[in-house]
Amino acid sequence: MSEDLRARVQSVLPGIRSDLEDLVRIESVSADPERAGEVQRSAEAVKALFDAEGFTSSIVSADGGAPAVIAHKAGPEGAPTVLLYAHHDVQPENDHADWDSPPFEPTERGDRLYARGAADDKAGIAAHLGAVRVFGDDLPVNVVMFIEGEEEVGSETLPALLAEHRESLRADVIVIADSGNWDIGVPALTTSLRGLVRMDIEVRTLTHAVHSGMWGGLVPDSLMALSRVIASLHDDEGNVAIEGLHSGPAADVEYPEDRLRAESGAAPGIEWIGSGSAVERLWTKPALSITGLDAPKVAGASNTLVPAARARISMRIAPGDTAENAVARLVEHLEAHTPWGATLTHTVVDTGEATQIDATGPAYDAARSAFTEAWDGTEPIDMGVGGSIPFIAEFLEAFPQASVLVTGVEDPDTRAHGANEGLHLAEFERVVLAETLLLATLGAQ
Ligand code: BES
Ligand code: MN
Repeated sequence: MSEDLRARVQSVLPGIRSDLEDLVRIESVSADPERAGEVQRSAEAVKALFDAEGFTSSIVSADGGAPAVIAHKAGPEGAPTVLLYAHHDVQPENDHADWDSPPFEPTERGDRLYARGAADDKAGIAAHLGAVRVFGDDLPVNVVMFIEGEEEVGSETLPALLAEHRESLRADVIVIADSGNWDIGVPALTTSLRGLVRMDIEVRTLTHAVHSGMWGGLVPDSLMALSRVIASLHDDEGNVAIEGLHSGPAADVEYPEDRLRAESGAAPGIEWIGSGSAVERLWTKPALSITGLDAPKVAGASNTLVPAARARISMRIAPGDTAENAVARLVEHLEAHTPWGATLTHTVVDTGEATQIDATGPAYDAARSAFTEAWDGTEPIDMGVGGSIPFIAEFLEAFPQASVLVTGVEDPDTRAHGANEGLHLAEFERVVLAETLLLATLGAQ
């Protein structure tokens, strides 16, 4: 059976590749209100692809959220139902000058196909499409396709969508193709993800700007005060210094130093921050970054005490912690570390829960054997990721009986969200084969 499936995967790949390229040309940036029409167009393109495979599909949205595609195709009577998830929205492409080829023009160079969304996550859609195309009208399982349109902006209306379409989304196994593998040639199942808290803070020290020579030395400026608040968030070693956050146990995976250096983008000479093993720091401990600042530009800065300044805090929380706890501990910390009587106000931008998956049971057995076969005998490792897919917790809540498998096309050098995002084409082929084998195995169970 599996040799036959291998050959069929080979034969559908060129078509899948060109469908992926067509999807990538659509600028479905969910964070950009001006491109809402593109997100709609991308939902329509996704729907057309599944309609062509004989699926019954519709475009749905809830509470004014982005359009998602739900599509169904039946397998044999009595077979399990498998929900295949991916998202058709993408992150902003940012500065085109940082890209070596136009961000929405899929371009092959070396081993990869480069474009925004070529991996995250239009290749997830393409992988699902490939697996169902291989089987044609003989699907081994019932398939529900669920392709979301607002993952990159926090899946705000996903709970409403799940509630509204609960029956039509019900499944025994949920395959979420939005993560990745451990290395080129080494597959993985993602079994833990961090949660997320984003918060904007403003620090104010003056009611209005004043001359820095007249008042400097007596009145603190807001940027100095904000800098102190920010500096208090880590200890000297670089661990997050907020009391009361959860840290989990170390996963037993060694991330070699040379790979960390090559894959992390760290500039030469940069020292790692924090303590514990590398994967502990990346997967099971909190992390905190400043991802934006509102302050006067250096060009044109005048000799003025700046009255107020803002920063965005992006904090990752460990599996086992909750967003509610993390927000409360962060606010306590900020209030205790605001110097000189400055006023600190905060606004929670969004939060998402972490996930720890019980990676046992028949669906995991099926996935491990499918992955091992697709990677020619290399067994998948259980890995964590430092990123977040907050809705996994929501899926698990909505369907507590279902097994959730988190897979995907990414590899350590995918550069998702960055310039020159690229899909590794040989790995992509293995991902499609693995999913094909998985569906066949689940159907046979
Ligand atoms: N595909 C990523 C999640 C991911 C990140 C998986 C790293 C594997 C490794 C997903 O599209 C994503 O970027 N999620 C956001 C969530 C946020 C917008 C709520 C993230 O992690 O920042
Ligand atoms: Mn993604």
